[in-house]
Amino acid sequence: MIVLGIESSCDETGLALYDTERGLLAHALHSQVAMHEQYGGVVPELASRDHIRRVLPLLETVLEQAGIARSDVDAIAYTQGPGLAGALLVGASIACSLGLALDKPVLGVHHLEGHLLSPLLASSPPEFPFVALLVSGGHTQLMRVDGVGSYALLGETVDDAAGEAFDKSAKLLGLGYPGGPAISRLAEFGNPGAFTLPRPMLHSKNLNFSFSGLKTAVLTLVKNNAANICEQGRADIARAFVEAIVEVLTAKCLAALKETGLKRLVIAGGVGANRQLRDALNEAAARKRFRVFYPELEFCTDNGAMIAFAGAMRLQAQPDAAKREYGFNV
Ligand code: KG4
Ligand code: ZN
Repeated sequence: MIVLGIESSCDETGLALYDTERGLLAHALHSQVAMHEQYGGVVPELASRDHIRRVLPLLETVLEQAGIARSDVDAIAYTQGPGLAGALLVGASIACSLGLALDKPVLGVHHLEGHLLSPLLASSPPEFPFVALLVSGGHTQLMRVDGVGSYALLGETVDDAAGEAFDKSAKLLGLGYPGGPAISRLAEFGNPGAFTLPRPMLHSKNLNFSFSGLKTAVLTLVKNNAANICEQGRADIARAFVEAIVEVLTAKCLAALKETGLKRLVIAGGVGANRQLRDALNEAAARKRFRVFYPELEFCTDNGAMIAFAGAMRLQAQPDAAKREYGFNV
């Protein structure tokens, strides 16, 4: 079965073709980062308009890459949500229109399920069950994953998501959008111990997170040092921020592994691309003897491959999951 995946929840248009026999056949992505950069964040109206412009040319690209015809597609999976309403509607409308034109079933996929299953696209994927840390721009969750469709929430952020904290703190330091990669790069030049920031909820007796106080602490540092802030000072603050957030994320992952008794940890979502987080988790995995799995870097942030894959997994588990009547909810 060949599934076409369409991702359009935010500022990337991603298309991919996944074959349940042969694996990922093709994937293509258009990032809108350059367009939104000048506004310091995603402008929803512009995002929707750009998705419409990109989606059909990207469809042609993946069909060509895979060397198949439109009629070879067996089902269409699209990101149903969560995300920007207008952007989601573009993906949903295109998916349903293609389904109607090709007479193929259409399936809405939860964006987070796409992220959650994306490490299974790797050449040595983890086996079930595992603990997953889902760290994106909109979500921070720890889940127990027993199989496709079998997810239990262990803990989540009570306020900002980790990616949001990265982006907002980067903005406070005058770095561009998206801030995550930028603050991470700047942190490499920071002196350890020049500043210390709080580790919110590090010692809470649950698996929840809180990051809004961390962002406020960065604001206070920036304000207090505004008069004499130099390039080195900004790098020092970036380092303190990255150290604080990485320590909290790592500690909560360890606590989740302990609570569940599992030995496999999967990291998914955009913040999963973070070098310092990967270093800390790899070090902890060697020390505490568990295995940690990451999606390929290109599948950490939003992409069509994870939606095609999650759609294919859903359809295999539940062949009647896809609809032909197109009564969809976004
Ligand atoms: O998963 P994703 O592409 O979109 C959402 O579903 O939200 O995640 C985007 C988030 C942004 O907040 C971005 O700053 C962050 O992931 N991010 C990073 C890195 N790459 C992307 N954060 C820290 N370090 C990175 N290298
Ligand atoms: Zn995402």
